Amino acid sequence: MFVSRRQFVSQLAAGASLAWCFPSVTLSMAQDRRSVPRTLTTNHAAATVHPSATQAAMDILQEGGNAIDASIAAALVLGVVDGHNSGIGGGCLALIRLADGRMRAIDGRETAGAAAVPDIFVRNGKVDPQLSQTGPLASGVPGQIAAMQRMHQAHGVLPWSRLFAAAVRIAEEGHAASRSTARTLAAEADNLNRFPASRGVLLKSNGDPLREGEIVIQRDLARTLRHIADHGSRWFYEGEFAKVTCEYLASIGGILTPTDFSRYQALDRTPIAREYRGYQVIGFPPPSSGGLHIAQMLEMLRPYSLATRFAESPVAGYHLLAECMKRAFADRASWLGDSDYVNVPPTLLDVGYLRERMADFSETHASTQIDRGVPPHVDPANVPNAHAATESEDRKHTTHLTVADAWGNWVAMTCTVNTSWGSKVMVPGTGVVLNNEMDDFSLAPGTPNAFGLVGSFANKVAPGKRPLSSMSPTMVLDQQGLPVVTCGAAGGPRIINATLQVLIRTLDLGQSIDDAIAGSRIHHQWRPDTLSVENGSAEKRSERNVSLARDPFAIGPDVVEGLEALGHTVRSAEFLGIAQGIQRQGDRLFAAHDPRAQGASAH
Ligand code: DON
Repeated sequence: MFVSRRQFVSQLAAGASLAWCFPSVTLSMAQDRRSVPRTLTTNHAAATVHPSATQAAMDILQEGGNAIDASIAAALVLGVVDGHNSGIGGGCLALIRLADGRMRAIDGRETAGAAAVPDIFVRNGKVDPQLSQTGPLASGVPGQIAAMQRMHQAHGVLPWSRLFAAAVRIAEEGHAASRSTARTLAAEADNLNRFPASRGVLLKSNGDPLREGEIVIQRDLARTLRHIADHGSRWFYEGEFAKVTCEYLASIGGILTPTDFSRYQALDRTPIAREYRGYQVIGFPPPSSGGLHIAQMLEMLRPYSLATRFAESPVAGYHLLAECMKRAFADRASWLGDSDYVNVPPTLLDVGYLRERMADFSETHASTQIDRGVPPHVDPANVPNAHAATESEDRKHTTHLTVADAWGNWVAMTCTVNTSWGSKVMVPGTGVVLNNEMDDFSLAPGTPNAFGLVGSFANKVAPGKRPLSSMSPTMVLDQQGLPVVTCGAAGGPRIINATLQVLIRTLDLGQSIDDAIAGSRIHHQWRPDTLSVENGSAEKRSERNVSLARDPFAIGPDVVEGLEALGHTVRSAEFLGIAQGIQRQGDRLFAAHDPRAQGASAH
């Protein structure tokens, strides 16, 4: 395949070098730039939760753009056709494997404003979660545009403005509301109705939500996107958008200022890399908890032959996974936060610590007394253990998209406005719905957020801080440093466990990425002490019948009974996360979207 000079140079010149903040990690990759193959595969691949976004990615690739260009175009389209999940009013985490072997982890996480004090959501001595979930205080400074511009400046091939074409056209001409858009509009109509611009664009004139198949036209959003296409991220962070947004937020009780916007920066983070079964598994570090806890759980699983275990008894397989999940999520609640503000102990990844963590694992009963561990060289005195938590619904917001090009550039990108339609606040005249990512902070010790997650002081609100995330864009490299699998998911804390299970199904159980993504999942987040299992309603299952028929580890009543007999409190869930992924087999790429959503993959 022809590689333009600009493309070749950008592949070589791009990116930060790999440096590891977790010292136990070593990564040996074939990094000799002279040996960069002109193409790694004979095809490109993309997977997203919406056919228009996947099409936009493939169009860019056809035109000679690379995976970085294509992922940006796809993310922009998702913000138009799937705005309840993600958009330019939200943030993203992007893990990128460049064709020359370098990795980048670009952090476009939203950031608390300078006036965001720890008790910002406390009223009359009590946290009011309404405030962190809906309305003007719920948003951090959006990070998606800054992250995308950073990705594009370093590695893009096509002009920045070209990447906006599909998103602008669809926003202007309109698109048919998808089933999930319609469902979330119906669920959130009352909250959207509180904000005039949200009401004007997303609801009908009588206040009813648009139904599936009805046309959504977003002229203001098209205009905003065109401005960013023409003037770059400065227009958003230092220009008109910041000004209008902050004025509006101030008028309804918000705290974000133009200075908060102008200070915003997408950041380069150092990925977490761990060897597992002869591969390097590379994950996203804090402010995400995903990469660290997936690495922890893989280490806990290492001593076990999962292929044999699952083949002999899926109950024993899922029991082991559940016990690892509990221990990892107990650590999450105490130790994890924005590593620019708190010390996230690197020793959470010590092999000895993780063996010790599993020392009380029992094959015959579910553990009930798990607490956070105390990793080596850490003084637990100032880090109180977290306790309470509530059940949260299995909601699906957020979106994971992935693109790989023939040259070997791979992008795994999770984008979100947090819960459906974020803060529900659309800034008048812009078409932009702002995130409610402030709810991802621990609002007070022991107070669960929208996902029932509790946290400690490590994740408390502070000015300029980034809330802890579960987003887990992940890459797997072979011994030559070549990418073999990438995956990630949507679903709040379920993201971490869904991604883990896609990894295990591909790396341990030898499944294709299609089957690995379709396969049944479980989820345990330590608190509440409940094991969620996917054995949803017959109607839901029928959407996935073809794939489920191929799943040798499908969770049926026998598995549920087995898990209950071990002492797990099992609850049934229709879906646990929405994952997308790509797998390379030789010189062919295979993309897979999650049959739990109405997405599309192409290769
Ligand atoms: O960053 C996070 O972990 C969350 N804001 C992601 C939200 C999400 O996945 C919503 N899905 N149910």
